[in-house]
Amino acid sequence: VTLETVRSALIEAPIVPVVTVDDSNRIGPLCDALASGGIRVVEITLRTPAGLAGIQAAAAAGGIVVAAGTVTSREQVDLCVRAGATVVISPGFDLGVVLRAHELGVVAIPGIATATEALRAIDAGSTLLKLFPAEQLGGVHMIEALSAPLPGVSFLASGGINAQNCVEYLRHPAVAGVAGSWMCPRIAVTGGDFTTIQSLAIAATQLAARVRQ
Ligand code: 3PG
Repeated sequence: VTLETVRSALIEAPIVPVVTVDDSNRIGPLCDALASGGIRVVEITLRTPAGLAGIQAAAAAGGIVVAAGTVTSREQVDLCVRAGATVVISPGFDLGVVLRAHELGVVAIPGIATATEALRAIDAGSTLLKLFPAEQLGGVHMIEALSAPLPGVSFLASGGINAQNCVEYLRHPAVAGVAGSWMCPRIAVTGGDFTTIQSLAIAATQLAARVRQ
């Protein structure tokens, strides 16, 4: 998977569900529900012990680009890529994580919260950056401010984004996509309520299509 593949998946479906996994057995059907709801990229976080097995299950399910989330070390990059992740997302910028991802031929989406971090990330070869935590940093106003001196960079905004406030992000030309946990409520994932998850995914996909048409 190349950066272009990820960019085009985000053009088709710019909303990325962020999943925290308690039981990796839920991930196959969860990914099917998301994919049938129009989602093209899913972020499975390493926040729980089951995260890595969740990445493996998502990769095995197929039909969706699997991003590993909350990746903070080179070792985790290795583990996630071995598990089948083709994209590595971090909450902040870590040079080792980005370089290791590039060595292994996967896409790194490092987190940034300042122009300085954005410059470091660009220097490391990343042009798709995660603005995190987006809402707390000023939301779309922060994107507007950062994108002026940083043409050629696009953002995956994440942190505090939901079905309502995603709209303003999606309207901004520097926003490649938005990520958030609202489509995969932990209780629905744990309870195996894939109908709810599919409905949330459909609603998000349709909203994005309306905003971006
Ligand atoms: C992330 O890792 O991108 C965030 O935890 C998602 O933020 P949210 O839970 O506020 O949507």
